[in-house]
Amino acid sequence: MAESESQNAQEQHQKIWNQYLEVSELAGELAHEIKNPLSVIRMNMDLLAEDLEEATSQRERRGLGKVEIVQAQCKRLQNLLDDFLKYVRVTDLDLKAGNLNEQIQRVLDFISLKAQEQKIEVLRYLDADLPGILMDAGRLYAALLNLVLNAIQAMPHGGTLVVRTRLTPSRVALDLIDDGYGMEQETAIRMFEPFFTTKENGSGLGLPTARRIIEATGGRIAVQSVVGQGTQFTLEFPIPPRLTADESDESSH
Ligand SMILES: Nc1ncnc2c1ncn2[C@@H]1O[C@H](COP(=O)(O)OP(=O)(O)O)[C@@H](O)[C@H]1O
Ligand SMILES: [Mg+2]
Repeated sequence: MAESESQNAQEQHQKIWNQYLEVSELAGELAHEIKNPLSVIRMNMDLLAEDLEEATSQRERRGLGKVEIVQAQCKRLQNLLDDFLKYVRVTDLDLKAGNLNEQIQRVLDFISLKAQEQKIEVLRYLDADLPGILMDAGRLYAALLNLVLNAIQAMPHGGTLVVRTRLTPSRVALDLIDDGYGMEQETAIRMFEPFFTTKENGSGLGLPTARRIIEATGGRIAVQSVVGQGTQFTLEFPIPPRLTADESDESSH
């Protein structure tokens, strides 16, 4: 009796999961379909704006103003669709052995100029002896970039970002600690909800996408935040036993 009940529950769970996959596939296709006409609209708006830039009459100048609004909204929609596609397509990750230090370093190099301009000091404490983890390097890079950009955006008047990697007994961990504006309670509760954002031009898809990418490799993400003091994100990734065996295998040849 109990066994068939649990079997039922499992079937039900499988059914819901399949429905979910189907809907997210459809949503992805829809987003993709919208991208093409949208880029045609954007391109024509760009051409129209170029024409109107030499405008001499009042009427044409007003026209240019309106075209610029359409351009800005197109751009916003394009970004949103790109972010949305990244969110729904987390199911097809290409997992390989990689180094966490390398990915976070790439991110920090990429944002270093921006950080400098915004008077943000970035302190790196990277453990050079980190073992490898399983990752889709491109997707993990994108997830880390969003976390670091969020931190930078939380420190509009400058601050300090501490980036630390370390080894725990069974995991590889990354801490990102900013001393920015922190999170209100509602934000702390809802930050991983798709489309939840407190930013005027935010998509609200960065954290949910990051979480899916991290959890897809068996990792986890935790957050601590205090309003007016700052926020700490901690990421933890399992060290795959097979990976360590393979590596030692390779080095012994
Ligand atoms: N380091 C941080 N400090 C303060 N708030 C943060 C931080 N990271 C994320 N948040 C909050 O979480 C929300 C969701 O983040 P995210 O999913 O990346 O979307 P977006 O950046 O587009 O708003 C942000 O709008 C912000 O309110
Ligand atoms: Mg973000």
